[in-house]
Amino acid sequence: MLASRMFARGFASSSFQRGAKVAVLGAAGGIGQPLSLLLKLNPHVDRLALYDIVNTPGVAADISHINTNSVVTGHKGPEQLGDALKDSQVIVIPAGVPRKPGMTRDDLFNTNAGIVKTLAEAAAKYAPKAHLLIIANPVNSTVPIVAEVFKKAGVFDPSRLFGVTTLDVVRASTFVGQVKNSNPEEVKVHVIGGHSGVTIMPLLSQTGIKFSQDEIEKLTHRIQFGGDEVVKAKDGTGSATLSMAQAGARFTDSLLRALAGEKGIVEPTYVKSHVAEKDGVEYFSTNVELGPNGVKKIHDIGPVSDYEKKLYEAAIPELKKNIAKGVQFVNKA
Ligand code: NAI
Repeated sequence: MLASRMFARGFASSSFQRGAKVAVLGAAGGIGQPLSLLLKLNPHVDRLALYDIVNTPGVAADISHINTNSVVTGHKGPEQLGDALKDSQVIVIPAGVPRKPGMTRDDLFNTNAGIVKTLAEAAAKYAPKAHLLIIANPVNSTVPIVAEVFKKAGVFDPSRLFGVTTLDVVRASTFVGQVKNSNPEEVKVHVIGGHSGVTIMPLLSQTGIKFSQDEIEKLTHRIQFGGDEVVKAKDGTGSATLSMAQAGARFTDSLLRALAGEKGIVEPTYVKSHVAEKDGVEYFSTNVELGPNGVKKIHDIGPVSDYEKKLYEAAIPELKKNIAKGVQFVNKA
């Protein structure tokens, strides 16, 4: 497709073909643009396909001038979606509307479920073996939506579907670092569960850092509802975009490195998981080791405090509800 090729590097010779093709769906949005920028800087990306229903020619033209060794193509509108997806190893989906003050992520379901379902149907058709990274909210429901679409198409592989919960992990490091006056880059917090309110469970007891009960409760609440701080501060113009772009780029980079054969890469992510199956929950986030085929090993929750046990009990019914809603959306008559 000519228009999408016009920003291609003039010399896509085989000696430069060393990375993956990554497609970003929703690339012209608040997250999509900075995320695409960060992916253009990633040496593991060989081709970057930017898809949206608006503005991608401009975004692609702009990003394509950055002098890194990857080809950028812009794709606008459903008739160009197939080209964007074809041959992709990784598809990142930040398409969909963001929250306004007073909204929960579940309030986005009516709009975003349809968008994600349509994009998943195209991915199942044009790139059934790609790894799908779902950013669009409500993640607790959009991941099951993609899974159901892929099951219907007969191409579902749970090791290639990820809900991106990295922003919760990034926030947890930042907030703990602030409270303990330590470098947030060195603070590692195992955040489990899902990606909304009470389903976000930071396991502070596993950090090896000592907290008072008051600190634990305040930090837990801030990590669970950190997104609301941004929504409130943006005052009706959207939710986290820049920090989310960084978090999305970090998770994509981790996966690309694992796909390229690097070992020992572990990130918390919301995947089809055995971890909370006994409580009737099919999708759950814990530390996941990534490998050349996506999910390599899903880690267990590990030791938890009594306080964290209560968090788990509160999260389970909400997660179940969110997952069932996504599954039903695809399978309704
Ligand atoms: P935005 O409104 O700035 O951008 C969304 C983009 O999606 C727009 O460019 C729009 O044209 C595009 N879009 C809409 N329908 C589309 C379709 N059918 N196909 C392709 N593109 C389509 O929103 P923003 O701030 O970038 O947020 C995007 C999503 O990410 C929201 O659902 C938001 O809730 C979610 N989000 C997720 C986070 C996470 O931690 N997983 C954190 C922050 C936001």
